[in-house]
Amino acid sequence: MQQLDWKNLPFGYIKTKYNVRCTYKDGKWGELEVSDSEYIPMHIAATALHYGQEAFEGMKAYRGKDNKIRLFRWEENAKRLQHSAEGIHMAKVPIDLFLQAVVKAVKLNQEFVPPYGTGASLYIRPLLFGSGAEVGVRPAKEYTFLVFVTPVGPYFKEGFNPVKIAIIRDSDRAAPLGTGTFKVGGNYAASLRGTIKSQQAGYGAPMYLDCCEKKYIDEIGAANFFAIKDNTYITPKSSSILASITNMSLITLAEDLGYKVERRPVSVDELESFEEVGACGTAAVISPIGEVIDIESGKVYKFCKDCKAGPVSKKLYDTLVGIQYGDIEDKHGWVTIIDKD
Ligand code: PLP
Ligand code: COI
Repeated sequence: MQQLDWKNLPFGYIKTKYNVRCTYKDGKWGELEVSDSEYIPMHIAATALHYGQEAFEGMKAYRGKDNKIRLFRWEENAKRLQHSAEGIHMAKVPIDLFLQAVVKAVKLNQEFVPPYGTGASLYIRPLLFGSGAEVGVRPAKEYTFLVFVTPVGPYFKEGFNPVKIAIIRDSDRAAPLGTGTFKVGGNYAASLRGTIKSQQAGYGAPMYLDCCEKKYIDEIGAANFFAIKDNTYITPKSSSILASITNMSLITLAEDLGYKVERRPVSVDELESFEEVGACGTAAVISPIGEVIDIESGKVYKFCKDCKAGPVSKKLYDTLVGIQYGDIEDKHGWVTIIDKD
């Protein structure tokens, strides 16, 4: 086991021992290769560099009380990478190759999977990009798929304490018929203006609205949005947001726990009526939102009762994290245990 300050890990990059890579060439995927280098040789005309032909995934490995290492709903990440690849005309990574690469990267770096009880996990970053050279705007003929891992702590410094969010109205992350449902790097580049603006205003992350009317809530930085009202879990339906696997799981868990679920356009005006609001995602897990400011009008919505997460968010968080770390029965078959050897 590595000796790291597990309880105080940031959400950042820490070098591990190995990553795995695979190349698509002449219409087929090659063998998985293990590398101990943090660098990739790139053609200067690779389509990823010039035309943003790149997509990634974000998932985690969790060490349980029994010391076993678990993946959570990895097939959903594999399918979403295929959806992103289709969206920007890249070669798709076969589901079994995806699993092999993820398992190999985790096993080779087992000593970096944080101990149970530290609140930390091993973040897994599968990456697919056009590595073939083109100068005209067209899809590459060659692709690289790689998986690296790095141990991480909470995405927001607040952890499970409420974060403050700023509504952004002067930049958009993704257009309704654009690339918002694909997990492609360009969306994150487009989100930086809003991210920096929210941080400069003293807030943790931006809230993006629909870009046509600026009336409905889209998502929160790199996470989906949810709200609780009258025993109902409410989350936006929008054609410009990423289909969050965490959100999908919370919808199921909310139903299991007896709440109603509504997936529909959610107007910003409704914020006033919500009992609890939060951001959810692999990195964010569930981050309760304590305050939302509309930067332009200065209007503030406060949700922070005693500055703690609300009871429904807490119940959902405990259930989700309990399943991920193996403390709660995995009734839906979401968890895959990685064998030691
Ligand atoms: N929305 C965006 C823009 C994201 O980057 C992420 C992170 O992956 C999410 C939502 C949450 O998705 P998931 O729960 O699958 O991690
Ligand atoms: C994740 O939640 O896994 C993400 O991909 C967020 C990341 C962009 C930091």
